[in-house]
Amino acid sequence: MSFQFNFDVSVDEEQHLSGEDDNKGNPENASLPTDSTNNSTETLKEAKELYTPTDLTAYESCAVDVVKVGDLELCFLNPDDVESELIISSFSQALKSEEDESDVSKAVDGHSDLIPKVYEGGLKVWECSLDLVHFLHDAEIPVKNKRVLELGCGIGLPGIYAVKKEAAAVHFQDYNEEVIEHMTIPSVILNKPEEDSTNQDLRYLSGDWSLVQKLLTSEEQCSKYDVILTSETIYSLESYDKLYDILRAVLRPTGVIYLAAKTHYFGVGGGTRSFEDMVKQRGEFNIEVCKTYTRGVKREILKMSFLEAAKD
Ligand SMILES: C[S@@+](CC[C@H](N)C(=O)[O-])C[C@H]1O[C@@H](n2cnc3c(N)ncnc32)[C@H](O)[C@@H]1O
Repeated sequence: MSFQFNFDVSVDEEQHLSGEDDNKGNPENASLPTDSTNNSTETLKEAKELYTPTDLTAYESCAVDVVKVGDLELCFLNPDDVESELIISSFSQALKSEEDESDVSKAVDGHSDLIPKVYEGGLKVWECSLDLVHFLHDAEIPVKNKRVLELGCGIGLPGIYAVKKEAAAVHFQDYNEEVIEHMTIPSVILNKPEEDSTNQDLRYLSGDWSLVQKLLTSEEQCSKYDVILTSETIYSLESYDKLYDILRAVLRPTGVIYLAAKTHYFGVGGGTRSFEDMVKQRGEFNIEVCKTYTRGVKREILKMSFLEAAKD
């Protein structure tokens, strides 16, 4: 199905859940380096706010995929089509400006699923994002009228779920601006009615967590979040502190975090057990496993909320 606004969709969930391509949706099989260190001299991606472009015709040639969650259909652009579109647009941009193609374009052109600190893998549907949307639905986690943030969103399916469930605000963050621009924003728009009278506050940020945290907390009215969602973002031990710090800085005292991840990312070191240990050591959050998936690679949903003494 091609990209268009306000359309009827056919459901093609099986395609995304069948794991036809074992590399897709599985960071431990993806082309990751064998440890969490990075020899790259790249600087961290700065924090940027991105806006919905007025012209989305470039995406009309992209197919639309759908994940069905209960009665809801979550639509997103076909990742392979977006990758092709991105390579073409980055190439023509590079020709015009006589600069290099973008990092993400080079990474996907070279068939890399993830290059630490350069491209963090946001153009694919990783399997824990599907776990998280199904969990939110099955456990009836309230998001209506709440302020929701999805960290490390990539396509942003959990955030799109919150959009469809009438959250008051849904803010999406990804490391790479190209992911937000070419994948997240057009995919979110697919899920909004053409005549949208809801006044839903949608916001898109790219950049490294440490810099996005600075941007959010430096705003005059730093509005914190009731619900923070994040999926497949704890594969690298090196990123734990940054992720922890932003979660702690922007969660409301009464807020809740749902984190979906594998229990262990072989070869890269991260996983839910070591993240849980780190959080417990800091002594500021309750953290519990609220769902375990044992089919295939073991995965979990963790729930975090501030301990009473840490609520200020
Ligand atoms: C494997 S992808 C998962 C994408 C999506 N959440 C999913 O499950 O399909 C990891 C995501 O973590 C985010 N990420 C990783 N390290 C980051 C960092 N240091 N700062 C900001 N975002 C980071 C990137 O945005 C990237 O999209």
